[in-house]
Amino acid sequence: MIKVSIYGASGYAGGEILRILLSHPKVTIQQVTSRKFSGQLVSQVHPNLRKKTDLIFSHPDQLKKCDLLFVALPNGESMKYMTNLKTFAKKIIDLGADYRLREQAVFENWYKQKHLNPEMLEKFVYGIVELHRQEIKKTSYVAGPGCEATVSILSLYPLIKHNLIEGKIIIDAKMSSSQAGLKPSFSSHHPERSGVVRSYMPSGHRHTAEIIQELSPFANDLDVAISATALDMVRGLLVTIHTVPKNGITEKEVWKAYRTEYANEPFIRIVKERQGLYRFPEPKILQGTNFCDIGFEMDTVSKRLVVIGAIDNLVKGTAGQAVQAMNLMYGFPEETGLEFPGLHPI
Ligand SMILES: NC(=O)c1ccc[n+]([C@@H]2O[C@H](COP(=O)([O-])OP(=O)(O)OC[C@H]3O[C@@H](n4cnc5c(N)ncnc54)[C@H](OP(=O)(O)O)[C@@H]3O)[C@@H](O)[C@H]2O)c1
Repeated sequence: MIKVSIYGASGYAGGEILRILLSHPKVTIQQVTSRKFSGQLVSQVHPNLRKKTDLIFSHPDQLKKCDLLFVALPNGESMKYMTNLKTFAKKIIDLGADYRLREQAVFENWYKQKHLNPEMLEKFVYGIVELHRQEIKKTSYVAGPGCEATVSILSLYPLIKHNLIEGKIIIDAKMSSSQAGLKPSFSSHHPERSGVVRSYMPSGHRHTAEIIQELSPFANDLDVAISATALDMVRGLLVTIHTVPKNGITEKEVWKAYRTEYANEPFIRIVKERQGLYRFPEPKILQGTNFCDIGFEMDTVSKRLVVIGAIDNLVKGTAGQAVQAMNLMYGFPEETGLEFPGLHPI
């Protein structure tokens, strides 16, 4: 058994890690922190966990030593505390953006702020297990990827690695409200958020930097852009990616690339059916699961290869893939705690 604590456990990502770990056979939860709810029952903030735990939130100042610490703070916060936090745990998985980008200058360019702990950047391994399995097994520090970056990288990786596409890649991302976290704002206020199909970020999305970092080693001059739209859903993320197939590429070759890379991956499913309602990936049926579903269609008229990827932003997009990484770091079977198959109908 390992002793695990969650720093920032009142938030959506921290709460989701707790939900998953409470059923993990190799983990004891030692502490969960919150400044705002310190001293209160966890189930008051995460009501789905009633009768699953009687844990009480600790104040972050009361943190004790543990084996592994999950850090689930808003972007830009964990770099303020990391030097201190690493004295409390041998292994750390940070879910925020602070340690995802290896280059300090790239972080500062995209996040428009100075990095406060650049000396730790090289210690973190980018936490997409499917790309970095061997490094994650050996490291003590993992940076949890962004959710748009996760589904986009996983959807594109086989196509780029097998040299099947060229030119500009346009990622059209449809986002849910839980991606913005627990803290309310004017834009999350119910009358403003309900029913929206809001062009949230037509250009300049910061996860572009992670996609370039992770896929550039497999491509010359990667040209990629994200347009993000906020939809009226609480969980889930869908990307429709418009790519240009290289001349003469067939669907058979695309299938082969996906099969080669993902046939043995427990959490990636290629979804491309000839009939039925769920012919392509659909975030609705992925809620609570650690799956990333990927589909595609060749548009021979406009010479496009359209790729569709879906995840639950809070599971494969953050907490689930962080637990997947933790399993690797301790030599546990990779799927432990992540077996939930989802619900249908939902
Ligand atoms: N939401 C998603 O879908 C998603 C997907 C991928 C990655 N992530 C990443 O996960 C991280 C957490 O996101 P979230 O959506 O869970 O955010 P959130 O709901 O706003 O939760 C943030 C947590 O951090 C705590 N916190 C904030 N500032 C703190 C500070 N200075 N010291 C100690 N605790 C502090 C908050 O607790 P108190 O205020 O109660 O102390 C809360 O528990 C982010 O970095 C985000 O990039 C989120």
